[in-house]
Amino acid sequence: MLKVLFVTSEAEPFAKTGGLADVSGSLPKALRNEGCDVRILLPFYRTVREQGLNYELLGEDVEVTLGDRRITGDIRGLLVWENDFPVYFVQKDEFYDREFLYGIPKGDYFDNAERFIFLSKMVLPLCEKVGFAPDIIHCHDWQTGLIPVYVKTVFRNSAFFSETATVLSIHNIAYQGIFDKGLFAQTGLAPALFSPSALEYWGGINFLKAGLVFADIITTVSKKYSQEIQTPDYGYGLDGVVRDRSRDLYGVLNGADYEEWNPATDNVIASRYTSDDLSGKVKCKQDVLRAFKLSRKMNMELPLVGIISRLVDQKGFDLVVEVMDELMKLNCSLVLLGIGDRRYNELFATVAKKYPKRIGLKLGYDRVLAHKIEAGCDMFLMPSRYEPCGLNQIYSLKYGTIPIVRATGGLDDTVQDFDLLSGEGNGFKFNAYTGTELLAAIKKAIKTYNEKERWRQLMKNAMAADFSWERSAKRYVELYHRAISKTRPAG
Ligand code: ADP
Ligand code: GLC
Repeated sequence: MLKVLFVTSEAEPFAKTGGLADVSGSLPKALRNEGCDVRILLPFYRTVREQGLNYELLGEDVEVTLGDRRITGDIRGLLVWENDFPVYFVQKDEFYDREFLYGIPKGDYFDNAERFIFLSKMVLPLCEKVGFAPDIIHCHDWQTGLIPVYVKTVFRNSAFFSETATVLSIHNIAYQGIFDKGLFAQTGLAPALFSPSALEYWGGINFLKAGLVFADIITTVSKKYSQEIQTPDYGYGLDGVVRDRSRDLYGVLNGADYEEWNPATDNVIASRYTSDDLSGKVKCKQDVLRAFKLSRKMNMELPLVGIISRLVDQKGFDLVVEVMDELMKLNCSLVLLGIGDRRYNELFATVAKKYPKRIGLKLGYDRVLAHKIEAGCDMFLMPSRYEPCGLNQIYSLKYGTIPIVRATGGLDDTVQDFDLLSGEGNGFKFNAYTGTELLAAIKKAIKTYNEKERWRQLMKNAMAADFSWERSAKRYVELYHRAISKTRPAG
């Protein structure tokens, strides 16, 4: 049985800021179904404590060094999470018992380097304590970028890690964990590793770069994004490093957890429905209009466009704001759930005020409302500047809520532009990052919406899409074996 330690900085239902939590909450289950002995590790954040579960104390005052300091933390665990596998936590309240995961809305926590060096260093004592010698450590994003370095250097001396291979998944290359070079000493790594071919990056240190250089296999969450990040436009300064590793880089599309996102079984939406009986979707539309206090009389017949998102530059909302007046002339309504950078919070608050009868806005995070939007809208908008995979368009397809997306990353890999002649396709796509192209895609969507038979066909196409995890989990298992074969040469 392949032993996999899955180290992540967020996982449903314990801690979430975005799609990484969806992935970490559902991929391990799928790996388990493929026969892996998978276990998860994440920090014991405040939101973890607040779940109030029976976390067992597995190790007390476990010590690691950070620079010249000896720091202790506890190891906790749920020994069988959801009748399935263990989830471990590193508890150090001084680091993780905070309101947010990575920083307050205005900026990152000042000690993020220490917080994630500590997590990474605790991997070894954790495995020793629980008697788990992983074949694979599967790391995610910059927060775990140092682990492949430790596995290839200081952890190698432990019997537990003598044959361990590492896989690093990039969920977003724009976030890299860049810190001042003064913090290098905290890593405890040999000074020679502060070099351009290892951790050094424009005079500082870069955790994601470290992972990219040292992991045996690198993956990212769609094929298209795996190509894009090799170019300067999408590589955020690391495209050269990624190109150097292109032989070991694979795009593995994220899956969806259809136990959570399925209109036939969803228990928070107003009425369940299937592609054979769509009548429930009408009730869901009424329900979401009600939730946003939009008049049903005025909006029920209009196409309703939904957005659920972190409001950050990545997501392309400057285009939406740019075309808002034109959009409102097209006779549609819009509901938006999101929170993020102040600039976007304010921009959307302004347009919502200008069109109070047609735009519903909730600035915040709301899991239940996210389900209601997926179920109650006719269309879902994701005009992202870049999108490593994107999950909401995948959920939208299942709910028959037609995605309108920019052809980038996972959006390009999961959405096929609807062809009016053949009736094939599951959504609408545009290429150039311009308001004009976005508007043209929305116009095409609305025109199609008004041809009821065509729209029904499109909904059926969308709902037939199957992005369950099984296929991708099988692919990860293949890549785990490939990583192992690199650390344990045959013979
Ligand atoms: P990203 O990880 O870049 O934010 P994804 O599309 O991969 O984008 O995943 C976003 C996840 O976070 C989805 O599960 C989505 O429903 C959820 N989400 C984002 N913003 C909100 C919000 N304001 N309220 C509820 N859920 C949200
Ligand atoms: C990141 C990306 C998103 C992806 C998610 C999960 O947050 O922005 O596109 O779906 O990770 O892999």
